[in-house]
Amino acid sequence: MPSARPKTTFVCQQCGAQSPKWIGRCPSCQGWNTFVEERIVPAPKGRDGSARAPRVPIPLDAVTTAGDERLSTGIGEFDRVLGGGIVRGSLVLLGGDPGIGKSSLLMQASAAIRRQGTVLYVSGEESAAQVKMRARRFGIDGEGILLLAETDLATVIETIRSTRPVLAVIDSIQTMSSDAIGSAAGGVSQLRECAARLLEVAKGEEISIFLIGHVTKEGTVAGPRVLEHIVDAVLYLEGERFHSFRVLRATKDRFGSTDEVGVFEMGETGLREVVDPSGVFLQERGKGVSGSVVVPTLEGTRPLLVEVQALVTPTSFGLPRRTVNGLDLQRVILLLAVLGKRAGLALGQHDVYVNLVGGLRIREPAADLGLAVAVASALRDRPADARAVFLGEIGLGGELRRVQRLGARLREAERLGFERAIVPAASARDADGVSLEVIGVADLREAIARSGIAAGSEGRSDPRV
Ligand code: TYD
Ligand code: MG
Repeated sequence: MPSARPKTTFVCQQCGAQSPKWIGRCPSCQGWNTFVEERIVPAPKGRDGSARAPRVPIPLDAVTTAGDERLSTGIGEFDRVLGGGIVRGSLVLLGGDPGIGKSSLLMQASAAIRRQGTVLYVSGEESAAQVKMRARRFGIDGEGILLLAETDLATVIETIRSTRPVLAVIDSIQTMSSDAIGSAAGGVSQLRECAARLLEVAKGEEISIFLIGHVTKEGTVAGPRVLEHIVDAVLYLEGERFHSFRVLRATKDRFGSTDEVGVFEMGETGLREVVDPSGVFLQERGKGVSGSVVVPTLEGTRPLLVEVQALVTPTSFGLPRRTVNGLDLQRVILLLAVLGKRAGLALGQHDVYVNLVGGLRIREPAADLGLAVAVASALRDRPADARAVFLGEIGLGGELRRVQRLGARLREAERLGFERAIVPAASARDADGVSLEVIGVADLREAIARSGIAAGSEGRSDPRV
């Protein structure tokens, strides 16, 4: 067997880029001081492949057929994001900020999955007692869930092979370490090696494996991004730390669509599904306040109504500030420029704050119009029509562009009691089957004129609010 020669390389702890020498700034992710020296000892070929162990035959009644190839997590919103459940033999990464609820979500799923077979929960972070305490607080008794407090990869893999669970949870992948790699746990080479070995186990033994990965702000420990290409599916649990809502989103899925989101609310006894997120997101909406607009956005196939809030104040000194939460900052800056140039609303001397209520994030350009109207309403300090929703992508000329699947979005708005929708003129004809009033507008100027905030319309802005 050729002896492996240890080699060192410098690896960016943020994005995994490699370099033969140390460099101060990563050319690929632009991070500063992210390179760390790592010793790489390539695993000798054929170490565990040369002598194949015989496969253990499975009793016929334990063999799954095509019909139940997916394991249900017992949590509807979780299954939705996974495209109907966990695919047997898949390796899934669940990423998110520390403390966001990753361990809790997987412990709750384990409690449902154990009815379909053993679950092995490997905790490298918390002691067995800590895991047990959380489970008990969530009302989960331990039956059918095996716990292993371990960080050595080889031991974990052997345990998976011998216990043959239907699901193994590795909490977290950053705490695992393999002897084959010289560097410390949590480094890029360790993460990749551990994930690759677990992928072999998942495929070879047809055991579904979940990896929990902490998203790290910078520097010391590598984040889950470096694993995204190894695993079958990538999910992120997002939310504002001090907010109770959590959104589970798939960013990669080899077995299905990646656009579905699941919405949860944190509680004493764990994460609860939010079945009517639009209703919940709009619950605390203040009526008659300037700068608030509701947008019927689409998350995957699911329409969601969200409130965009804007606050505009005169800049007291220096450069005007733009602070954005939940939307793309560059997009907001672009829309502010369009508002100035095409709708005569100059914002060069104003600070602009934009917030998406509930800790959500929207990426689709269909939210442009809602955002622009919220800013216009905040600037003029006149509330926009509270019974209307706004939708449309804005072009650089201020023109409004068609949006997809208008019908589904407007039906959701109708369900929640909205009476009007201001939409791009080109989309207005797609709105069959909805009974709310659909107002098609050609451009941003016209949309603002119909929004109830234009000068001279104070009297009729919304008499009912
Ligand atoms: P935890 O699942 O440990 O977060 P992560 O694994 O992502 O770091 O959750 C953090 C803490 O919040 C933990 O003490 C449990 C608590 N928690 C609740 O009380 N209710 C909930 O619904 C969730 C998700 C967490
Ligand atoms: Mg955890």
